[in-house]
Amino acid sequence: MKTTASYLRVIGIMTLAFLLMEFTVESGDSWALLKYPVIWAVLGLVFLFAIAVEVISETLKSILFRGLSEEAQERYIASEAYRKENNWFKKTYKKLLAKKPIEKESEIVLDHNYDGIRELDNVLPPWWLYMFYATIIFAVVYMVRYHVFDGIDQEEEYEIAVAEARADIEEYKKTAKDLIDVNTVEILTGKEDVAAGKTIFEANCIACHKVDGGGGIGPNLTDDYWILGGGIKNVFNTISEGGRDGKGMVAWKTDLKPSEMAQVSSYVLSLHGTTPVDPKDPEGDLWIDPNAPVEEVEVKQIDSTKIQIKIEDQPVTGDVVEDE
Ligand code: HEC
Repeated sequence: MKTTASYLRVIGIMTLAFLLMEFTVESGDSWALLKYPVIWAVLGLVFLFAIAVEVISETLKSILFRGLSEEAQERYIASEAYRKENNWFKKTYKKLLAKKPIEKESEIVLDHNYDGIRELDNVLPPWWLYMFYATIIFAVVYMVRYHVFDGIDQEEEYEIAVAEARADIEEYKKTAKDLIDVNTVEILTGKEDVAAGKTIFEANCIACHKVDGGGGIGPNLTDDYWILGGGIKNVFNTISEGGRDGKGMVAWKTDLKPSEMAQVSSYVLSLHGTTPVDPKDPEGDLWIDPNAPVEEVEVKQIDSTKIQIKIEDQPVTGDVVEDE
């Protein structure tokens, strides 16, 4: 009996040591044990140590036991036996089973008898009964919570989880601004971002594009014409990857972070429509934003001299002028 307890203790200590290793050693998704084989050695040492402790304590006990007087030995054996019988686990286990010992079966035997086959009127095992009571309590709580007080159902739980995840993503984006690339970049209109863009522009770009974007070595950035395409995505791409070979516009992605390129792109676009002191002539093609809302234009001849144009339902009336 003593050895069983020893085995159990050793197994328990090993399990504990293993779990402790897995939970404390940072190993990502894989098992710490596989990632760091040295853990095997540590566990091996723990194993030896646990066995040594068991052996030593058993030896000590037996030496002490032999040193006792005969009477004391008897008292010790009796107390050990008592302790074993009145062990809390054993007692609880027995209680939960509530088995009638075979000697007392006559108390619960029913009075029918079929060819010698008889039936015992056993009570329900308490472990089973307690679980049954627990389900009843659960059912009542569930019923009250979800059907009387209308608790949240799965659909609402789902909505809440999605909303939380969205908020987390927003929060994450705030701290990870540099996650943007040419596909996800959007024009920044916040004062701080545009001001930061201005600072970057003045530090890196004015030698070729002038302070006001009017252009010098590089093209005019304030007009409607773009060599490499207008709009936030094209401008971001030009700044990130550079212009055509040999033209002088280098790729800035090694010098500027994605967030900074988004800021300076937004600043460049904010210059659109301003009037620089010495603007360079337009170069490239007229850029029409494919995503711009289409204006609804309706033209109506009122009479031979008047014409009405409706733009987005706003009527404008003007005189017809003959072309000369
Ligand atoms: C060494 C001179 C030089 C510097 C510095 C420079 N650029 Fe340019 N940039 C150019 C030239 C030249 C072009 C035209 C490239 C081409 O034709 O392919 C250009 C093109 C551009 C365009 C595209 C214009 C169009 O019409 O499509 C943008 C946007 C732009 N630059 C932004 C910037 C920004 C922002 C900076 C600073 C981070 C900067 N540039 C720094 C010379 C420069």
